[in-house]
Amino acid sequence: MTVVNFSDIPAMIHKVTPESPIGIFDSGIGGLTVVKAVQAALPSERIIYFGDTARVPYGPKSQVTIRKYAFDDIAILMRYQPKMIIVACNTVSALALDVVEKACGSIPVIGVLKAGAELAVKATINNRIGVIGTQATICSNAYACAINMLNPEIQVVSQACPLFVPLAEEGLIEHPATQLIATEYLAEIRTKGIDTLVLGCTHYPILRRVIEETIGQGIRIIDSAEAVALRTKQLMTESELLNPSLKTCPPHLLVSDLPQKFSMLYQLFMGSELPDVELVDVG
Ligand code: DGL
Repeated sequence: MTVVNFSDIPAMIHKVTPESPIGIFDSGIGGLTVVKAVQAALPSERIIYFGDTARVPYGPKSQVTIRKYAFDDIAILMRYQPKMIIVACNTVSALALDVVEKACGSIPVIGVLKAGAELAVKATINNRIGVIGTQATICSNAYACAINMLNPEIQVVSQACPLFVPLAEEGLIEHPATQLIATEYLAEIRTKGIDTLVLGCTHYPILRRVIEETIGQGIRIIDSAEAVALRTKQLMTESELLNPSLKTCPPHLLVSDLPQKFSMLYQLFMGSELPDVELVDVG
């Protein structure tokens, strides 16, 4: 396998205006949780969303592969000359944020992981936070590092829940299989006295109800989508790049494969009909 040295890759430069779109990406449908929150906070913004549906899941893959995928994803979005990029994928935020930042040059980049860590630190009272995420995110220890950078006193308990991604992509939202797997994955973390649980993968809010029921009452669930949306609004306001249009438009969707369930999941999740979807080749 060829290992690409991303520090040699020049940033893709283009001019931005308030009318330029906001680019958002994830490995699949998970990032739509972030699209929904950004749309609610900034209804006039044009959103270009790329879901790498041909190569999902990213979580069980190696760091080398995830970094390559992140570069491909950003190269696709940069064709649309976005004014900023949201990495709606914790796995990429944990292992390849620098690749995205490098490729984006002066275009601002927000990753979901930092937003999730900040929210969790604000939410915990007993300084015990649980984090669930993909294998790659949990093994990277990126959440524990981000949380402990903000407060070294906090104890972080982590658990990889790899099967949650295919279950969400399959639309098995309240299926007994999902309940069974949630019981298995969350058994240990339930015993650790946490008062806050970070959904450290953007697919997991799709399964939120089952996760919430399984982890038990009284535990705050952290979904970073809203924090990311607020940060986006703040950033666009500060840089005078808010779109002045009074019109709202559906997101422009790009996918690398169009699985049959995509339309059903989109409707279920976004509460609206699937807009036109463009199929792109990730090479
Ligand atoms: N939704 C992504 C995340 O937040 C990736 C899941 C996957 O592709 O394994 O990590």
